[in-house]
Amino acid sequence: MADDKSIFIGASRKPDDSYQRAENLLLQYGNRHGLVTGATGTGKTVSLQILAEGFSNAGVPVFCADIKGDLSGIAMMGTAQDFLVKRAEQVKLDPYDFQEFPVIFWDLFGEQGHPIRATVSEMGPLLLSRLMNLSEAQEGIMNIAFRIADEEGLLLLDLKDLQALLANIAERAEEIGARYGNVTKPSVGAIQRTLLVLEQQGATNFFGEPALRIADIMRTTRDGRGAISVLAADKLMMNPRLYATFLLWLMSELFEELPEVGDPDKPKLVFFFDEAHLLFDDAPKVLIDRVEQVVRLIRSKGVGVYFVTQNPLDIPETVLAQLGNRVQHALRAYTPREQKAVRTAAETFRPNPDFDCATAITQLGTGEALVSTLEAKGVPSMVQRTLVRPPSSRLGPITPDERRTLINESPVAGQYDQTVDRESAFEMLQKKAKDALDAAAQQQESGGSRWTIPGFGNDDPAPQPTGGRRAPAPRASNRQSVAEAAIKSVVRSVGTSVGRAIVRGILGSLARGRR
Ligand SMILES: Nc1ncnc2c1ncn2[C@@H]1O[C@H](COP(=O)(O)OP(=O)(O)OP(=O)(O)O)[C@@H](O)[C@H]1O
Ligand SMILES: [Mg+2]
Repeated sequence: MADDKSIFIGASRKPDDSYQRAENLLLQYGNRHGLVTGATGTGKTVSLQILAEGFSNAGVPVFCADIKGDLSGIAMMGTAQDFLVKRAEQVKLDPYDFQEFPVIFWDLFGEQGHPIRATVSEMGPLLLSRLMNLSEAQEGIMNIAFRIADEEGLLLLDLKDLQALLANIAERAEEIGARYGNVTKPSVGAIQRTLLVLEQQGATNFFGEPALRIADIMRTTRDGRGAISVLAADKLMMNPRLYATFLLWLMSELFEELPEVGDPDKPKLVFFFDEAHLLFDDAPKVLIDRVEQVVRLIRSKGVGVYFVTQNPLDIPETVLAQLGNRVQHALRAYTPREQKAVRTAAETFRPNPDFDCATAITQLGTGEALVSTLEAKGVPSMVQRTLVRPPSSRLGPITPDERRTLINESPVAGQYDQTVDRESAFEMLQKKAKDALDAAAQQQESGGSRWTIPGFGNDDPAPQPTGGRRAPAPRASNRQSVAEAAIKSVVRSVGTSVGRAIVRGILGSLARGRR
């Protein structure tokens, strides 16, 4: 069956429906991306499950979102249900072994898995603007805000920091507007209000520290299996924009942090992007272009991206063209739009003279798909009608108790549970404001005199109650913050390699193009 070079997907059928041969996905081309599509209930999640199992067994870590909770069963051993055993026989999966997989559960809300966080800085102005659905003009202001934070060494960790920064910018709108243009108090105020809405939607949990370390989703077990990170996304899906932005952020972080590997024997990580249409729904062209760029370039970092969606029309053509491994489940073809989707899906395959692709797509049964993978030299294989193998892990959700146990036993248990709120923009700006007030008070006390007697403590234009220098020597944590912010700034503007420059381009260069 599957050897150590490929993943067994299922068995293709001859025109008379009898067994033809095993269909495999070559690990060598696992980083050439993929697509799993099909109407509701046709077997997409199960296909995702068996692919994730296959990658894990091959030692490849997997990241996937669990939209309905029904993928969580991958953490538990499967059981021999009749229809699964029957399917195993049909595809000649012998022996049909059951297995539980090493799963790490994650949850942006920290309820159904380890909390997953990013800092505002890491997210960057482009993705934040997308998340907040800002207008182009507002996005311009966001870019300026990030620039000012960089220049002034204000570390942006959580939404509180961003709020404080925006408040500060609103106060200095005149001065900043004169320098950068287009910054007015009301325009900043509008962004502040949008930010409040975002906070009310629960995004506060997601921004802050400790931020996710990419290494934690790239783990393998001692017996050489890749960890499967399962992101609980049922609650998250109530805010589709947060869901899509988060996954996009994660994808660009992977791209940014991982080294070039060229063409590895097997992927370094496989990333399943379920409900992928959310990524592209009313996204501006420039963002779609960026996504296309990341998808194209992330391949050489050894990351395979697999989009899962109902309709192949949901994915822009430029992205679609890069998805080499395809599992197309049944589509309905009642409305003209549906018929168009069927035709599009059919046209993307290398035809098989044995059957008409478009007709086949509408006739496939549950857990059956048109499959084409990349074979020798990365050429797409001729499309085959394929019965997908049954999973080795449990079909369906895990119980809350089982989940709790696994979360407690996970290798990252305890590492992300507590939010750390270290000194950042919010605290620094608060302190600045207080210092300014104190200085003003002192100024008044001393009669507002512009004259000072050198050496008598108030020889500074803005003397402080503590006397001495204008700016107190920064505390250790403060200094670290400034240094970090400076590093971010350098990374963002210069880039140490082409890859880095492009990544920061992806996250931050939208406005650069417009400016
Ligand atoms: N490869 C398979 N082997 C055995 N049974 C399968 C297979 N694929 C799907 N099934 C059966 O079909 C059911 C529905 O499949 P699945 O949940 O994967 O559909 P889906 O396309 O993800 O649906 P939705 O769009 O609603 O999420 C499964 O619960 C299972 O009973
Ligand atoms: Mg599903």
